[in-house]
Amino acid sequence: MKEYNRILVTAALPYANGPLHIGHLAGCYIPSDIYVRYQRARKRNILFVGGSDEHGVPITIRALKEGVTPQQIVDKYHASIKQSFADLGISFDIYSRTSNPVHHQTAADFFKNLYDKGLFEEKETEQYFDEKANVFLADRYITGTCPVCGNPNAYGDQCEKCGSSLSPDQLINPHSSLSDAIPVKRKTKHWYFPLQHYEAWLKEWVLEEHKEWKNNVYGQCKSWLDNGLQSRAMTRDSNWGIKVPLPDAEGKVLYVWFDAPIGYISATKELTDKWADYWCKEDTKLVHFIGKDNIVFHCIIFPAMLKAHGGFVLPDNVPANEFLNIEGEKVSTSRNWAVWANEYVQDFPGCEDVLRYVLCANLPEAKDNDFTWKDFQERNNSELVAIFGNFVNRAFVLMHKLCGGKVPPLHNGIIDQKDKQLIEDIGAAKGKITQSIEEYRFREALFEVIDLARKGNKYMQEKEPWIKAKLVNEGGTTGEAAQKEIDNCLHLSLQLTANLAILIHPFLPGTARKMLHLMKVVDKMLEWENAGSLNLLRVGYSLRAPELLFRKIEDAEITAQVEKLRTNATKPAAIAEEKQPEPVKAIQIKPEIVYDDFAKLDLKVATILAAEKVEKADKLLKLEVDLGFEKRTIVSGIALHFTPEEIVGKQVVVVTNLAPRKMRGIESNGMILMAEDKTGKLHFINPENAIEPGAGVS
Ligand code: MF3
Ligand code: ZN
Repeated sequence: MKEYNRILVTAALPYANGPLHIGHLAGCYIPSDIYVRYQRARKRNILFVGGSDEHGVPITIRALKEGVTPQQIVDKYHASIKQSFADLGISFDIYSRTSNPVHHQTAADFFKNLYDKGLFEEKETEQYFDEKANVFLADRYITGTCPVCGNPNAYGDQCEKCGSSLSPDQLINPHSSLSDAIPVKRKTKHWYFPLQHYEAWLKEWVLEEHKEWKNNVYGQCKSWLDNGLQSRAMTRDSNWGIKVPLPDAEGKVLYVWFDAPIGYISATKELTDKWADYWCKEDTKLVHFIGKDNIVFHCIIFPAMLKAHGGFVLPDNVPANEFLNIEGEKVSTSRNWAVWANEYVQDFPGCEDVLRYVLCANLPEAKDNDFTWKDFQERNNSELVAIFGNFVNRAFVLMHKLCGGKVPPLHNGIIDQKDKQLIEDIGAAKGKITQSIEEYRFREALFEVIDLARKGNKYMQEKEPWIKAKLVNEGGTTGEAAQKEIDNCLHLSLQLTANLAILIHPFLPGTARKMLHLMKVVDKMLEWENAGSLNLLRVGYSLRAPELLFRKIEDAEITAQVEKLRTNATKPAAIAEEKQPEPVKAIQIKPEIVYDDFAKLDLKVATILAAEKVEKADKLLKLEVDLGFEKRTIVSGIALHFTPEEIVGKQVVVVTNLAPRKMRGIESNGMILMAEDKTGKLHFINPENAIEPGAGVS
């Protein structure tokens, strides 16, 4: 392991074209904030930088549609996003924005550096132009009829109905979605960054030196690298963005994905004069927290840019999350299918930590995950209220009732097995939580904290100090002995409470703060080195009266939220509206078989290691799967449903003993199982939580 002397944490810069929603939070801001708060509690030298991503086509389009300037759009949403981060306790050291002059300068200089080294390829190509709106059109803004399925609202880069990836040339009746004009082709010159020159180096750096990266991240990188890298245009025709710093570049700006990650550097510059220590010294640990759609930019393109520039550190890790869906459906800003952070804060004042808790518990760390309001309520009521809050409350109530409101002494002579077990549990929890956080497994870490509180409840339940209190009333030696037992129980329960404050703090900072208040102790107690200690509260110290840490969330509140979500959501995009109602297929059941027929099938769980398109076969993907005991190639007809990038790392059930079959010259060794819904869309059938490849299915 490398020795690091400082840590630099970045969280993806959200586009300033809409408010913040819980998908953003679960993707990267909750995990990064937990990580940073934990590292600060360890007194490590750490900076946490973020900011708004204020360039790019979607912002200009939104401005055009709303009849305002792009600057007005970004001003509005930058302020809104920044406020939501503050409300939810995302503790950036700086939250900057890419429209800042420092950033314009930094990004332009970066581009100029690569340009002066002669690294860009200058190419003239033909691109679609909208003569009415007088702008070049990104593929996404050209719509037309899909040549594969006939959907009349396919985009120039993809048909969302059948999943085919397209280019604008393939669309039938292409038209601009801005003005309805028929796009014409125009010549335009751009600067391309030849990623292929970095392919060999990237393969070594990512695939050999970073095998420890998360499966979903590593798998996506491998798939990109195996498929071969190509030159990418790093400039665009637009008036919104960072001007290309060259004399003959009127009307050209830097590609948003060129400038945005440089925003991390600019933000650090804005924050501190020591920025270069963080960006240029080898003993910096750079960690990028992002969502899965950002993987290629952070693991391949930006590192290649940094490498080309020279003098910068590269990320030590890029712990990307998958997506968080809502009530079983993909978050969609355009459909308003989202839970907006600003609305949450208004609807549930004082419950900021509850959202942090529920999102952390459902982080899509290994695969897409789902947020439902029901689960939100259940986790609040049965975990925060009934376990964590309940334990702390009981400790305080009983301490006031049975120990005069003061921390009772610990009588060493009568420590029993249950006390010992609790003491051991407190010690062990710290180690487990530390390791999980260091390795970016935040759900697991959080569950350990809750588990410790659960053990506290169980301990108290078994020790029954309220029963012993009756003996105390009897007085005499029995009474004295009983009081000693009560003292021990509450002494340990209160020390555990203090430990819980330290351990929950990275996750639920507001709750930890309330606990400090109840215990009348200062912030310093929250330092991580204090976790595991049984001397956090002094004997005889008087503590405040109990106050509930969490409140119950009622059914009515949940119904209201679900209702709000459904009424505010617009119908699924035009495509769905035009869909004819599906003819109801008769349910078909195959003829009966005997058990032995079934037993002939060998079904096992496999992890998809790599995926690539099969040349000249639109429907086929060539998969490399890991069955635990061996790796295999399987050719599968799912290419119209999934891109290679999105399925790498996923688990599937494989029929392993199917006779090999050649497809397009590739031998396929087995078959993967998928579910097909009535629209013909395929869905993965996989274990609920990732398991060892090779596990049998029966
Ligand atoms: N704005 C991008 C998104 O929301 C993320 C940019 S991350 C950065 O997907 F590295 F480019 F800053
Ligand atoms: Zn289609």
